[in-house]
Parts: sequence; C-alpha cells; structure tokens
Amino acid sequence: MTRRPGPLPAETLPLILEVEPGADYALLDSGSGRKLEQYGPYVIERPEGQAIWQPALQPAEWAKADAVFTGDTDEEGMGRWRFPREPLGETWPMKHDGIDYLGRFTSFRHVGVFPEQGSHWSHMEGLIRKAGRPVKVLNLFGYTGLASLIAARAGAEVTHVDASKKAIGWARENQQLARLADKPIRWICEDAMKFVEREERRGNRYDIILFDPPAYGRGPKGEVWQLFDDLPVMADICREILSPKPLAVVLTAYSIRASFFAIHALMRDTFAGMGGEVQSGELVIREKSAGRALSTSLFSRWVAG
Ligand SMILES: C[S@@+](CC[C@H](N)C(=O)[O-])C[C@H]1O[C@@H](n2cnc3c(N)ncnc32)[C@H](O)[C@@H]1O
Repeated sequence: MTRRPGPLPAETLPLILEVEPGADYALLDSGSGRKLEQYGPYVIERPEGQAIWQPALQPAEWAKADAVFTGDTDEEGMGRWRFPREPLGETWPMKHDGIDYLGRFTSFRHVGVFPEQGSHWSHMEGLIRKAGRPVKVLNLFGYTGLASLIAARAGAEVTHVDASKKAIGWARENQQLARLADKPIRWICEDAMKFVEREERRGNRYDIILFDPPAYGRGPKGEVWQLFDDLPVMADICREILSPKPLAVVLTAYSIRASFFAIHALMRDTFAGMGGEVQSGELVIREKSAGRALSTSLFSRWVAG
C-alpha cells in the first residue's frame, strides 16, 4: 500500500464526546477497579481497569447492585454473574432514545450495548436526516445492532455485518422489539474484511460507514482479525467503497495500546484528497456521583465538508 496523494482533510483534535447520566443509562459511580451502572431497571457492577480512583458512593450503595460480574468461572453464559438480590433472567428490556432493545448478561462481561457509542449514533442520525436523500449505511462489527436500528429509523438503508451468528440473532431480536421490522436492514454474518473486499469488487457503495473492530477477533470461518495489522487495509477499502457523495466514516477502537493520534493520522492519510474533516479523540462516560470522566475508547471519524 502506498500513501494516498492529495491535501489532507482539515482536522479537529482532541474531541472528547461525552455521554451524560440519563434515565435509561447512567454511570452511577466508579473506583477501586469497578464501576456501578444503571441499565434500565437494574444496577450492575462490573470490573473497570481504568477506575484507579476511590468510589464516591458508600459501600451500602454498591451493595444495592442487582447483578455483579465476577468472572470467576470459565463457564459460558450467565455463570460468571452473581445476582445478590434475586436470580435474574438473561435479558431485560432497555430503551435508547426511544428505541426498545434487550440488555443481556453475557459471559464476556458485556451487557449487549456500549452506551458510549450514543455520541456517534446521534451524530450519524443527524447526518442521515439532514441529507434529505436516500442514504446507505454500512455497520461493520455491528454487535447487537443499535447503530443499525438508529440509522434505519432515520430513514437509511442499512447493511449490518458481524462474524457472530449469536450477535446477529440478538440484533434481529432487537429489530423486532424496536418495531423496525419493516425497515430495510440486511443482516450479514461474515468476516468484515472479506465482506468489504467483496463489496469493492461488486461495486457496492455506501454513504456512511461505521466500524468498531475489536483488537483481536475471528470471522465465522476462522479468519483472523488483528487490528494493528488489518486496520490500515480496512480503512483504505472503506474509502474505496464510499459513494460519490459520502457523508462520514466513523472508526472506534477499544483496548488497544495506541493513542487517538495514531488512528487520527491513519484516517487523515486515508481520506487525503477528499476534503472534509477528520475529528479524533475519546468517547467518555460522565459519572453521576462525582462527575469524573471514564474513558471507554478512542475514535476517529472523517466527515464530509
Ligand atoms: C462488541 S463489538 C465492538 C465493541 C468493541 N470494539 C469491543 O471490542 O468490545 C465487536 C464485534 O465484532 C465482531 N467481530 C469480531 N471479529 C470479527 C470479524 N473478523 N468480522 C466481523 N465481525 C467480527 C464480534 O462478533 C462483536 O460483535
């Protein structure tokens, strides 16, 4: 791969995008390597490596948790959760900005949603509504589909790709629950890299691309995703499969040993000659108890001028 020619897009950094405590989700407190969050009806306690400060709430408040991730077995499913008050089912009803979906206790400590992504979702929704024309959205590594549902509700035609059959099933369930079953969403269980390569060959194009890759992952046929090796190629192909009038490409990265300057430089180089702006920084969640910001991930997004 060679560096793309052309003037670099304008830049804004650092841009810190915050999620505030709300009625459906709130980071209640954090500290001592743990976080306490409200997810709809439940208070949930999970490990949080970055919370190196002390909790602001009293132990009695933490003791009110309905679910605690212990992670002390290798068991699949709910065995890694403890329910101090009463046994809970695997899923429960949640809402984000009017969209109904399911929270879910998973063996990976996750709960079926990454609330910090809310900042990207509202930005994307604004772009789709403002465009005033048919918009095609590609959601790579789409997990439980919240971004796909928000895009579809805003009127976009959506293609959602994830390697996990289970995650695709959960996303489809969310589509039903959100009463968006009649909206055009293609659900594709495939390796994200293979998928974008094929779209490039077929000439399929998108106006908005979201990609939220893990540091390491596997495709359904054992394909290996290694962020540091594969991200530059994927970013480059994402540029290739943009429509003639693209709106944005949004990258988020979790748990990687890099600064947002790294993905910022990659995105700016990748979108050289396209105009617009690359904005990069962190997605953070503002804590309700003491107002501290908990950083969750790095992001970099190209937005058309
Ligand atoms: C949880 S989401 C994104 C959140 C965040 N990036 C993280 O790592 O926790 C990651 C999604 O990527 C999917 N995934 C992992 N490897 C993949 C691959 N090679 N192709 C497509 N999807 C993949 C997983 O199934 C999962 O739903």
